[in-house]
Amino acid sequence: MDLKNIRETYKFNSLDEQEISGNPFTQFTEWLETYRKLEVKDSNAMAIATVDANGIPQNRIVLLKEIRPEGLVFFTNYESDKGEQLQLNPNISALFFWREQERQVRITGKVRKIEKEESMDYFRTRPHLSKIGAAASDQSKFIQSRAALEDKFNAFNEQYPEGSDVPMPSAWGGYIITPEVFEFWQGREGRLHDRLLFSKDKKSWKISRIQP
Ligand SMILES: Cc1cc2nc3c(=O)[nH]c(=O)nc-3n(C[C@H](O)[C@H](O)[C@H](O)COP(=O)(O)O)c2cc1C
Repeated sequence: MDLKNIRETYKFNSLDEQEISGNPFTQFTEWLETYRKLEVKDSNAMAIATVDANGIPQNRIVLLKEIRPEGLVFFTNYESDKGEQLQLNPNISALFFWREQERQVRITGKVRKIEKEESMDYFRTRPHLSKIGAAASDQSKFIQSRAALEDKFNAFNEQYPEGSDVPMPSAWGGYIITPEVFEFWQGREGRLHDRLLFSKDKKSWKISRIQP
């Protein structure tokens, strides 16, 4: 496979200090909305990196489910590997890659759990099988076979058939990422990409440019 000769040029757009919003949440929302209009599958997917007890980074995709004035919300299992890592170390990095628009947004910040009632409100809106899947999976824990997993799923599905009220698993819920840094990256020709960094300066945001 000849990977060395794969070369893309980036010329979709540019990003400068005059046009960018002074509020990174506004800018982020605008870019995400623009991307969503393309109707790309999983346009709200983000890679989140956490650090484990041995200092080793771990990364995986989750779905962004809400943008609040103070942060970004995703849902998961609090007893999963990522949940345990965030319990020990609430620092997180989130990354969005919007290929078709040659954009990347990198966020670093800290997480906290959202209120249980807020998680329950969202859980209720999930499709039935997603609720059953969440209930049947002790996320990140070993299981002896696929069949054993399906047995657990079927048992929950029998106990809580379609139309019944599936209780939210006690370990399931949302985290909110409170960003401290946002980096907006826009690909440009000749690899002279635009990179604008927002860093929190007390209550306001400072914008600076970094080299590509
Ligand atoms: C497109 C996509 C969306 C996903 N969305 C979620 C999600 O919203 N929440 C979640 O817990 N896992 C989600 N996953 C699964 C995670 O990537 C991961 O496998 C799981 O959360 C276990 O991670 P952990 O063992 O590091 O805790 C998604 C995976 C993909 C590929």
